[in-house]
Amino acid sequence: MAIVTTTEMFRKAYEGGYAVGAFNVNNMEIIQGITEAAGELKAPVILQVSKGARAYANHTYLVKLVEAAAHENPDIPIALHLDHGDSFELCKSCIDGGFTSVMIDASSKPFAENIALTRKVVEYAHDHGAVVEAELGTLAGVEDDVVVEHGAEMFTRPEEVEEFVSKTGCDSLAIAIGTSHGAYKFKPGTKPQLRFDVLEECQKRLPGFPIVLHGASSVPQNFVEEINRFGGSMPGAIGIPEEQLAQAAQLAVCKINIDSDIRLALTASVRKYMAEHPDHFDPRQWLKPARAAVKEMVTHKILHVLGCAGKA
Ligand code: G3H
Ligand code: 13P
Ligand code: ZN
Repeated sequence: MAIVTTTEMFRKAYEGGYAVGAFNVNNMEIIQGITEAAGELKAPVILQVSKGARAYANHTYLVKLVEAAAHENPDIPIALHLDHGDSFELCKSCIDGGFTSVMIDASSKPFAENIALTRKVVEYAHDHGAVVEAELGTLAGVEDDVVVEHGAEMFTRPEEVEEFVSKTGCDSLAIAIGTSHGAYKFKPGTKPQLRFDVLEECQKRLPGFPIVLHGASSVPQNFVEEINRFGGSMPGAIGIPEEQLAQAAQLAVCKINIDSDIRLALTASVRKYMAEHPDHFDPRQWLKPARAAVKEMVTHKILHVLGCAGKA
């Protein structure tokens, strides 16, 4: 199957009460680990590229690697998505260069400016066969070079979503309900709890419309423990409980973004390997288990969080 947009994926996910995983990709091993898991489980998947990933790996390398993954996994739909596009020019460049989906994240701008910029991206995207994710509300945490302190985040205001979606024509909407970017989502000792009341109110006001959750890594404690055991230091790293994500997936949430859990799987694997094999220096030796760790983590998400196995 060629690289596709998210339209059909989201329609089926909404109706079926599950979500599609959107995993951030930065290199070949990450792309292989994710798509091998999705391919074996016959799950739709979204591969997403941030501005930072594009600066790191180069647009063309990433597109060609994703095309290779689609070639190797012809039975599953794969979407190629720009994560957190911050300008019309960046979104246009990705659409022109083969992405099927872009996010324009103007959520830090005033409401009217967010609408105007999102509308401009939607018009260009729809004229070129691509789809657009937009955002209302602000998550805490770190994304690219923007840091939002905990307590300074703003939950999405449900009373704004209908006007925003109808005026922009966006295809999906990221909302803020208590998720946050990075590996330190909650203060140790506090109880992680998503605002399902906000999600349900948005869903009521936008029937049938796909909602997106950013900052949705669970920060599995076995990865954190392994990192800390083998020379790392990540005290107090905490994520979103998987049961809450699985609950959101049954509601209007059709796309769940996961990046930090990939980073943790890779880092835990590499730290352990290096500690246990101090004489090894062939990168294939330590990248192979690292890639397998990504695959295992994605397999777990598909089966136990997203519910999208067999939905390709
Ligand atoms: O939300 C941001 C993603 O985790 C991407 O992170 O900008 O460091 O590539 P990045
Ligand atoms: P995490 O940091 O929770 O993995 O969030 C990733 C994300 O939202 C990418 O846009
Ligand atoms: Zn994000």
